[in-house]
Amino acid sequence: MTASSDQAPVITIDGPSGAGKGTITQLLARRLGWHLLDSGALYRVTALSAMDRKVDFSNPDALARVAAELKVSFEPTPDDEPARVLLDGRDVTREIRTETCGDRASQVAALPPVREALLQRQRDFRQSPGLVADGRDMGTVVFPEADCKIFLTASPAERAERRYRQLLEQGQSVKLADLIHEIEARDERDMNRSTAPLKPADDAQVVDTTGMSVEKVLDQVLAVAGRT
Ligand code: DC
Repeated sequence: MTASSDQAPVITIDGPSGAGKGTITQLLARRLGWHLLDSGALYRVTALSAMDRKVDFSNPDALARVAAELKVSFEPTPDDEPARVLLDGRDVTREIRTETCGDRASQVAALPPVREALLQRQRDFRQSPGLVADGRDMGTVVFPEADCKIFLTASPAERAERRYRQLLEQGQSVKLADLIHEIEARDERDMNRSTAPLKPADDAQVVDTTGMSVEKVLDQVLAVAGRT
């Protein structure tokens, strides 16, 4: 019997921003009837809460306290929309998706005490019948013994374009060139931080989604997971 055989199965979906992780994680979790962990949302909510409380972003311990004390919950929606995110009972689903919040989230995510403070909270999502976990270090740090690990990626230009369309749909006006620049800067920070850098686990399957439709990516991920 392996250490994890009495625990619910986990599929990890890691990769850079805009690789399609959120969409694929959601479709996969729905298809399998499993729980979903959007770990990026936890970093985003931590950043939002710290901004609301005017916490000094150069103070890692103060930010870690915010992460530890976070009163966050995810409410499933009846339709195909992502779960609603509540911070202290307030709906922050849209607020945490702004570029400012994403940038602040990337800063707090680079801090080891913040990552440590959020570790157990993430592992608690592992419940029967199973979990699909979306993030950067799901397969390397949070669930190293996961049943199946996938690393989704796509070219920076394509990821920026997907994000551009998403933001336009949400009514936010941005410049594509600025987005490419920001995505490259965020990748650089996420890949080069000392704690839990963004990289595929040794036993992860890398899926490059450049030029692929969502349906095709889902098929490939289901095949990799042996769940077709
Ligand atoms: O996936 P996202 O864009 O919502 O993530 C927001 C930020 O949090 C991003 O800069 C990467 C970081 N993050 C992380 O370091 N580890 C995770 N498991 C998830 C997100």
